[in-house]
Amino acid sequence: MTQRSGDTADQAATALRRGELILLPTETVYGLGADAGNAEAVAAIFQAKGRPRFNPLISHVADAVAAEAVGVFDVSARALAEAFWPGPLTLVTPVRDGGRVCDLARAGLDSVAIRVPGHAAARAVLSAFGGPVVAPSANRSGRPSPTNFADAVEETGFAVTAAVDGGPCAVGLESTVVSVLGGRVSLLRPGAVTRAEIEAVVGPLADGGDGHRSPGRLAAHYAPDAPVRIDVVEPRDGEILLGFGPGAGDPRWSLSVSGDLREAAANLFRLFREADRTHPAGIAVSPIPSQGLGEAINDRLRRAAGFVG
Ligand code: TXA
Ligand code: MG
Repeated sequence: MTQRSGDTADQAATALRRGELILLPTETVYGLGADAGNAEAVAAIFQAKGRPRFNPLISHVADAVAAEAVGVFDVSARALAEAFWPGPLTLVTPVRDGGRVCDLARAGLDSVAIRVPGHAAARAVLSAFGGPVVAPSANRSGRPSPTNFADAVEETGFAVTAAVDGGPCAVGLESTVVSVLGGRVSLLRPGAVTRAEIEAVVGPLADGGDGHRSPGRLAAHYAPDAPVRIDVVEPRDGEILLGFGPGAGDPRWSLSVSGDLREAAANLFRLFREADRTHPAGIAVSPIPSQGLGEAINDRLRRAAGFVG
């Protein structure tokens, strides 16, 4: 819809220094970025997204050294950082005193969410800027996260002065959020790094349902405009079926014809958006297995369908 050509990492860093917002490509989804130390800039993110203020944001940094200037890492946090950074993992740790992330970005919590993204364009922006950049997904609140440049520009391009084009997101689903607080490691949001991959590094995870859950994870998050039904084998009249596996509906609307979870994750939000543009009676989704990446895909699908998570 909107024609816009991409800005450079240096232009993005300059915008961040001025307290302006940017579009930040990452391997998971596009982010709407601001200087984590500038509370006014962070407030502008909440305003542009129409997001409730109590939802804390992820601080993106260039490397593990910069991460430890923001949060306090114990042995488990270090092991996870070494195993999965740069990459689609966010660690919630105690906030470091004197660190640069403002209270508003943390929603007043004494913990902080930190990620070192793997995407080369994101790392170029973070290196050029030299400090933490908060970036929630660049969608307006409650809508699917943008996974390519045009969708990001359409969602929140109006609010930014620099937009970096990093191409389509290879992962297409948000990062896994793991908290490492008080010696407990727990999964707050399933994502691109699977539970099994995390447990292979730190052993069995503590159960999440203990008050340490990610705040502000609204049930209706990630929802397209059309009503969504999940675990559907036979779509109803007027519904688009997002299939999974061979023979499940029209291949043009398939999450993955071959039944590949990684491909399905990368296609999910884009197909939600494309289906919405045809104004269907509804969007039906084939059953998706729950192992591996399927945990994160099913989490997003249950939210899109309006089930409380
Ligand atoms: O892949 C991603 O993570 C993308 C890209 C842009 O990096 N970002 C993203 O940000 O999804 P956002 O703001 O949409 O989601 C941040 C998640 C939320 O579930 C939030 O509640 C959780 O991280 N979170 C942030 N700070 C936290 C904290 N101190 N304690 C617990 N959860 C926290
Ligand atoms: Mg989001």
